Amino acid sequence: MVQAWYMDDSAEDQRKPHRLQQDVPVSLEQLKALGVDSLSLDADRYESDPELAKIRKENNYTWMDIITIHKDTMPNYEEKLKIFYEEHLHLDDEIRYILEGSGYFDVRDQKDKWIRIFMQKGDMITLPAGIYHRFTLDENVGVYIYIYIYMPLPLGNHHLCCRHVPFRIM
Ligand SMILES: [Fe+2]
Repeated sequence: MVQAWYMDDSAEDQRKPHRLQQDVPVSLEQLKALGVDSLSLDADRYESDPELAKIRKENNYTWMDIITIHKDTMPNYEEKLKIFYEEHLHLDDEIRYILEGSGYFDVRDQKDKWIRIFMQKGDMITLPAGIYHRFTLDENVGVYIYIYIYMPLPLGNHHLCCRHVPFRIM
């Protein structure tokens, strides 16, 4: 299951945990109040998992992709990591499912404070449309990370990205 905490604002490597000196954990209920849903699934059988199939059917998650983030296989790896870490939002929900490895999704709360969400193998998360967020690998950089993406928009303009849009839906 995902774990979350409020972040410090040090300029240290983004892949470090960035917990506050006095740790302030964030519960799943607090995440839910922000519209962030999470659950755990059996990543080893994702191809035949009835639970995953049910979630996809119920939510009309018709589109998906697997991304492998690894320094040996991803072109422009360091550059890509920087791009993933740029704060942005979308007009549709963002769904991620970690099949291997681990990483951090950061989301802003209602007061614009950063919450860091640690995800590892089997964790699925839904970030609601309009929430500011970013992604980074953690320090476990030798591990492959596969991420499922489901885009429910049927119009072909899925994953509409709107960086710097001056509003938030929360
Ligand atoms: Fe995103």
